[in-house]
Amino acid sequence: MTLAAPILATRNLLQVVDLSATEITQLFSLASRLKADYSLFAGSLSQRSLVMLFEKPSLRTRVSFELGFQKLGGGVSFLDHQSSPIGAREPVEDYAQNLSRWADVVAIRCRSHELLSQFVAASSIPVINALSDLHHPCQALVDIFTLVECGIPVDQLHLAWVGDGNNVCNSLIEAVATLGGRMTVITPPSCRPHADVVRLADARAFRSGARIVFTDDLTAVEGVDAIYTDVWISMGDESRGVEKTALLQPYQVNSSLMRRAGSKTRFMHCLPAKRGEEVTAEVIDSPASIVFDQAENRMHVQNALMLALLRPDLALRCSSFTV
Ligand code: CP
Ligand code: NVA
Repeated sequence: MTLAAPILATRNLLQVVDLSATEITQLFSLASRLKADYSLFAGSLSQRSLVMLFEKPSLRTRVSFELGFQKLGGGVSFLDHQSSPIGAREPVEDYAQNLSRWADVVAIRCRSHELLSQFVAASSIPVINALSDLHHPCQALVDIFTLVECGIPVDQLHLAWVGDGNNVCNSLIEAVATLGGRMTVITPPSCRPHADVVRLADARAFRSGARIVFTDDLTAVEGVDAIYTDVWISMGDESRGVEKTALLQPYQVNSSLMRRAGSKTRFMHCLPAKRGEEVTAEVIDSPASIVFDQAENRMHVQNALMLALLRPDLALRCSSFTV
């Protein structure tokens, strides 16, 4: 008898390029199935435990992971590290080895992406990046899932990023580069995404046929399916606050930019948003905005990931239909 391969080849999700296009598509199928009917998965993570280590504040990521994991029957422990960094009281490696003895998976929100690699090296349980300075993979996967739910085939998607080329932007670039489709990244030249991300995305895009364009020209929003923006000053980036706020003023997503994009263009934001800065209230609170659909979907896509990691048998059985 041959055993089917699990959905995921990787044990950790530190950035979107840890996943292949097929793996992401299977996760999306599973997330759709979860969203449609959780009763099929009741108790599927009973006796499993998630530990969450957070060095930065969170609403959506914390609650969607906690309630999502509990919905599948598992237990969650939240460790708040906002006042002292992970590794301050004891080495990161000891932390990882301790948690590996009690928990089944760990989700980490950290100031520096390097901490994740350090943690993974000593951990014997899967590690999920719940946001770092460089990446926010769970967010980006959910965002593409939400666009697919809107009826946009992923390979025909045209997404515009407007504003700061930050962690969420990096992860979206990796997602589009992996899955195909188009992304136009519109930022001031000094706010462009991280060069390593651009290099990796180029290599992926070569294989997938994706087109990723970097520009400072706001007219490039014409005809896009969605305009996505995020805060101008990310957590931990406060020292560049004054400089970036001045640079990014012309990149505010307002009614005039949305009109330029077209009547069918959706507005996206990972939240939390600053109305009056990167986006006007008129836009984020308009019918074009799908920001709360994105927030809702956090739980379903993350739960699909948890099942794929911790119950590969069940995940494989339930991920074989299209979104
Ligand atoms: N989008 C997002 O990650 O929100 P939180 O910072 O509230 O978790
Ligand atoms: N770019 C933002 C995302 C918050 C979810 C930050 O890192 O603060």
